[in-house]
Amino acid sequence: MKYDVADLSLAPVGKKRILWAEHDMPVLASIKERFAQAKPLKGLKVSACLHITAETANLARTLKAGGADVALCASNPLSTQDDVAASLVADFKIATFAVCGENRNTYYKHIHSALDHKPVMTFDDGADLVNELHTSRRKDSERIIASMEETTTGVIRLRAMANQGKLKFPVIAVNDAATKHLFDNRYGTGQSTVDGIIRATDFLMAGKKVVVAGYGWCGRGFAMRARGMGAIVTITEIDAIKALEAVMDGFEVMPMAQAAKTGELFVTLTGNKNVLRAEHFKLMKDRAVVANSGHFNVEIDIPALKKLSTKINRNVRRCVDEYILKNKKRIYLLAEGRLINLAAAEGHPASVMDMSFSTQALQAEYVMKKQGKLAVAVHDVPKAIEDQVSILKLKSMSISIDKLTAEQKAYLASSGEGT
Ligand SMILES: NC(=O)c1ccc[n+]([C@@H]2O[C@H](COP(=O)([O-])OP(=O)(O)OC[C@H]3O[C@@H](n4cnc5c(N)ncnc54)[C@H](O)[C@@H]3O)[C@@H](O)[C@H]2O)c1
Repeated sequence: MKYDVADLSLAPVGKKRILWAEHDMPVLASIKERFAQAKPLKGLKVSACLHITAETANLARTLKAGGADVALCASNPLSTQDDVAASLVADFKIATFAVCGENRNTYYKHIHSALDHKPVMTFDDGADLVNELHTSRRKDSERIIASMEETTTGVIRLRAMANQGKLKFPVIAVNDAATKHLFDNRYGTGQSTVDGIIRATDFLMAGKKVVVAGYGWCGRGFAMRARGMGAIVTITEIDAIKALEAVMDGFEVMPMAQAAKTGELFVTLTGNKNVLRAEHFKLMKDRAVVANSGHFNVEIDIPALKKLSTKINRNVRRCVDEYILKNKKRIYLLAEGRLINLAAAEGHPASVMDMSFSTQALQAEYVMKKQGKLAVAVHDVPKAIEDQVSILKLKSMSISIDKLTAEQKAYLASSGEGT
């Protein structure tokens, strides 16, 4: 088996983390158990470009239990948990190509190693793998029956490819499933972004002036959690409805050019580029901290920050770089502008990834059944899968809910009764 990980001797620690996470992933564990019996993915070659975390390891184990032959590579240069990567290879015999801190060349070398596995189905978190299948590895795209996409930014890229008529195989917008973004993007990113910032800075959130760029699923999750810890939270938006929602949720809303003057901690969660840029850095207070929790490291204009600086002190703390500007003010950039929750902390808690990755696993099974029948387009996850994941998750929490009575069913399907 081919692989490239940092240090195989880390495997025992990684295995403990994987098994610890599994305890909090009961829905995925039940799917794994069923897959191990039914083998719905028998003989399927899968390549997955995902954050190499303990939760991803449990998804890979589930696919493998279902009969798939899985290869993994990282979907971000800084998100790999090296001990988990080692255990995937040593304990679970899953071909893994991922090293935390890998440079761009190695990152793409690893994507190509995963594609050398000759997958028939792929999983992506950000569409980098699918992008290679449409550019440098076009021949390999002919084999693909479908690809699953985990995040908002990836879905945006895939929809752009579909709109331009470039998409070559069916893709599934797993991110858009309610069982994914309502929980993972909101509660997962919300909590783990706070976690990453605290691990990087050891800040007290109470009383901190926090500026959150983007009030989408991730932004509102983080804003809610930061406020819960006593931070004074301001939102910046470009969408009028989202801005109104933020106002009525009780946040201050203003343009970044205004927020930049007073903020102490800035966090971007937009999926857009250059949200924090030169004009904003120049306005910031001394010792302002900037971090990103959106998918790519383009939300903060780091080249502009470098250009404005006379000196850069790397790693004044782990994951903290100090930029000293020509105006003598200091700006601290966390985790090189990469996803702070994965670079400085451990990403989303397993309990929420249980829902995202159960949706992924069931979707893989569905795609196998629908092989050859799915149009080349961006597809939504079927409602039946979302319902199944929600029912199983509630069950795992020992929570039951009410059922419609026959009378209520008839009422909801009728128009006769009014005032
Ligand atoms: N950190 C993580 O683990 C994690 C998890 C899930 C998603 N993501 C990523 O986070 C990003 C956001 O995802 P989401 O699901 O919240 O998307 P979303 O579409 O729900 O929200 C993005 C919001 O940003 C706003 N926005 C866009 N440009 C802006 C700008 N210049 N200034 C202010 N606001 C702006 C949009 O109007 C929108 O409301 C994506 O890149 C996604 O892939 C990260």
